[in-house]
Amino acid sequence: MEKNNMKILLHYFAKFRKSIILGVVGIFVLSLFLLPTPFITRYIIDDLIPNKNTTMLISLLLILLLFIILQKVISYLTSYIFIKINSKIIIDLRSDLLKKILMMKVREKEQFTTGYLISRIQDDTKALQSLFVNSFAGILREILKFIFGFIALLYLDVKLALITFSLLPVYIMLTYHYTVKIKQKSSDTYEKTALMTSQLEESLSLSDVFKIFGKEILGVEKYHTRLIDNYTSYMELSRNVILNGVLPVFILDLIPIIIIGIGGLRIIEGTFTLGSLVAFTNFISFIFGPANRIIGTNIQIQQGLVALDRVVKFWNIQAEESGTKTLQKIRNIEFDNVSFRYPQSPDKIVIQDLNLEIMDCNCIGLKGISGKGKSTVAKLMLRLYSPQSGLIKINGLDIMEYDVNNIRNKIGYVAQEPLLMNDSILNNVLLGLDKDKEAELSFDDKKLMAMKALDLSSAGFVYELPDGIFYQVKNYGDSLSVGQKQRIAIARVLINQPDVIILDEATANLDSESEAKIFETFNRLAKDIITIIISHDMKILSNCDKIIEL
Ligand SMILES: Nc1ncnc2c1ncn2[C@@H]1O[C@H](COP(=O)(O)OP(=O)(O)OP(=O)(O)O)[C@@H](O)[C@H]1O
Ligand SMILES: [Mg+2]
Repeated sequence: MEKNNMKILLHYFAKFRKSIILGVVGIFVLSLFLLPTPFITRYIIDDLIPNKNTTMLISLLLILLLFIILQKVISYLTSYIFIKINSKIIIDLRSDLLKKILMMKVREKEQFTTGYLISRIQDDTKALQSLFVNSFAGILREILKFIFGFIALLYLDVKLALITFSLLPVYIMLTYHYTVKIKQKSSDTYEKTALMTSQLEESLSLSDVFKIFGKEILGVEKYHTRLIDNYTSYMELSRNVILNGVLPVFILDLIPIIIIGIGGLRIIEGTFTLGSLVAFTNFISFIFGPANRIIGTNIQIQQGLVALDRVVKFWNIQAEESGTKTLQKIRNIEFDNVSFRYPQSPDKIVIQDLNLEIMDCNCIGLKGISGKGKSTVAKLMLRLYSPQSGLIKINGLDIMEYDVNNIRNKIGYVAQEPLLMNDSILNNVLLGLDKDKEAELSFDDKKLMAMKALDLSSAGFVYELPDGIFYQVKNYGDSLSVGQKQRIAIARVLINQPDVIILDEATANLDSESEAKIFETFNRLAKDIITIIISHDMKILSNCDKIIEL
């Protein structure tokens, strides 16, 4: 394990130091309780029963009973402590990982698909559990038990012990073989299950598209292929699970026959006692049980290390860098010989030597054919990407000098395809509000502001929905029309009273009446703010003081 990886993991354990110590002590006390039982049993069988010592027999049985009760109590407590610590660490890891991912630069995040990131956050953190303290404490306990069993068997009878040990390598080899196979096959099955689920999601989400083309059966066929894939790998997994339950266990079943056979003959000869034979068979489980569990945990730890490597990669990705200067009011924006290509397609120049000036005007139109780079210009202003050459300046100063959140607070962007949160309309509008301002306001004030913003964006339809502004948006806004989503998205920007508002085809889906009302709002606000309208529609662009063609 790399040192840095270990450091990151240790950081998460530090908080639970005390509980971890308590749990580890519990595990060791637990193994101590296991050890004397076979010897006490031997003593009862060989001494107390033949000598008819009833009093001692009863007291020893009571002691054994007490051992069992204590064992169960400690076992409950340690399991509970460890499950609690593990679950809490997973909460911390998952939230931190999501935070890391959300704080990344857009260009870093674009390298990964959403499905990949979900699997990193959900599955890898789960696999990391095998690296938690209880696995290591568990292995240590099994090693202790193994050593104790090994010595006890030799102490009870060297010859029988050696016969038993000779079967151990075969048992270990078989167990190891099947444990590795099962792990491989189950990760294969996991992957096939994920593919199956995502296909089912596609078949259901695109049901209307399939229907329009009369191809419902295509949706079923695609899912069926995934079902068969999943079945094949599940059967492979099951075959190994069944064999694992049969072959190594065959060795375990063989041992008592051999031991009872040889031991029985020795008792008849008078060179061995019945109590020793019972103790011996008890101690056999002390070496075979731990061997099995050590192999299992070891393989889990290996997988955990692989998961840790993947998770730590995200720790090393730099968060978005930010300048320190604060913006008071945006008066002008300038593009100075700006050239840009998306990091994902470095061969294609999207914007070349662009010069533009947004200055001394309240409304500016941006026009150009589809795919020309209009939305990209907006994203550059928001600093979601940085140009490869040239400068973008706000109030004469390079945009990189300003605090990045400050810029995004002052520039409101209404995207071409607005996405809403699966939350109430109110909370969707409040998303636009600066977090410092939001913290100072009462709920009623915020509600009032949201209602005012909805009014300005001509979103009166909201009050006709069930629950009004508390209406719950589902599936990122599926239950609303595109025009309705756009109006909520405009309100989400207006509520923060930014200095610049960029409308990226933001009214393209609206009827002319709603559109006119929104532009009336913008004309009214126009004295104080800069509006940038991205559109193909000359009628809309005619509202602007200046039109720039890309
Ligand atoms: N994330 C991205 N990665 C790689 N290329 C991209 C990305 N986003 C956009 N592009 C490409 O950049 C070019 C400009 O895209 P942009 O979205 O800015 O165009 P647009 O002028 O807004 O078009 P439209 O009018 O259709 O909205 C397009 O050719 C597009 O394929
Ligand atoms: Mg666009």
